[in-house]
Amino acid sequence: MDLNDRHVVVTGAAGGIGEALARRFHAAGARVVVADLDAAGAEVVAASLGAERAGSALGLGVDVGTEAGNVELIDAAEAAFGPVDLFFANAGVGIGQDLDTTEAIWQTAFDVNVHAHRWAAKHLVPDWVARGEGYFCSTASAAGLLSQIGSAPYSLTKHAAVAFAEWLSITYGDRGVRVSCLCPQGVNTRMLNGGDDRAGNDIAGSVGGDVVRAAGNVLEPAEVAEVVLQAIGDERFLILPHPEVHTYLQRKAADADRWLAGMRKLQARITG
Ligand SMILES: NC(=O)c1ccc[n+]([C@@H]2O[C@H](COP(=O)([O-])OP(=O)(O)OC[C@H]3O[C@@H](n4cnc5c(N)ncnc54)[C@H](O)[C@@H]3O)[C@@H](O)[C@H]2O)c1
Repeated sequence: MDLNDRHVVVTGAAGGIGEALARRFHAAGARVVVADLDAAGAEVVAASLGAERAGSALGLGVDVGTEAGNVELIDAAEAAFGPVDLFFANAGVGIGQDLDTTEAIWQTAFDVNVHAHRWAAKHLVPDWVARGEGYFCSTASAAGLLSQIGSAPYSLTKHAAVAFAEWLSITYGDRGVRVSCLCPQGVNTRMLNGGDDRAGNDIAGSVGGDVVRAAGNVLEPAEVAEVVLQAIGDERFLILPHPEVHTYLQRKAADADRWLAGMRKLQARITG
């Protein structure tokens, strides 16, 4: 899809990968809705885009971890810019660690990293099928294809996000709905660098920078956004800004036991 003059919604766009996506899509000529739980941050990004092209961006504070939040977002986006052409479910949380992780953290991880995608699709896909066109893109992670050392909730929810995107493509791909799934490894954002995320979740030690940096090259958000724009232009399903992830995936598929042994070695190296 060529994004010139298209209506694009990006969630989790107050900073990090989402902000870079919003900026790149806007530079490609799209009208962009910048959505985030951090309303002030979303408005700052939208204001700076609006200053470049008047009336081309809207900042919205929404919680995509609820169905009502997704409905509110889609309604507000459509009221501002008409039917949504591309919905980018990028908001995510890197929270929780092991078997002792609380139920509340598991719930938040599934709500934001998985159910948000399902709720958005539920309210977008019927119109897209009727129009014969629409594009759903989600940010999962390389952790959704491989695993996340140190975080069971992140590993599970990102696998589920990939699975949902695959299911959506299989089910609606022949009815005009395009689907892509972004699966980066390390990207230099607040999530990677620890502390609290913008949603106020304590993310230190969950999907920590040490683990991700040990696993490979860390990209800047703008580099990821460039790869994504190209992939959307080509309408490619799997978006891998770190090409080595494809090799890891092949190794995992070729010999699961060998791959798991390698992951255990990497974990031992990281944890000392
Ligand atoms: N940084 C990495 O290394 C990396 C690697 C692979 C995948 N990812 C994924 O990329 C996406 C973006 O993360 P990022 O690295 O830019 O981190 P980030 O913390 O900078 O951005 C995540 C954004 O999501 C927002 N958010 C969280 N919960 C929300 C909710 N309930 N409603 C609305 N917005 C909410 C946060 O406020 C934040 O602005 C996430 O899905 C993350 O899992 C990141």
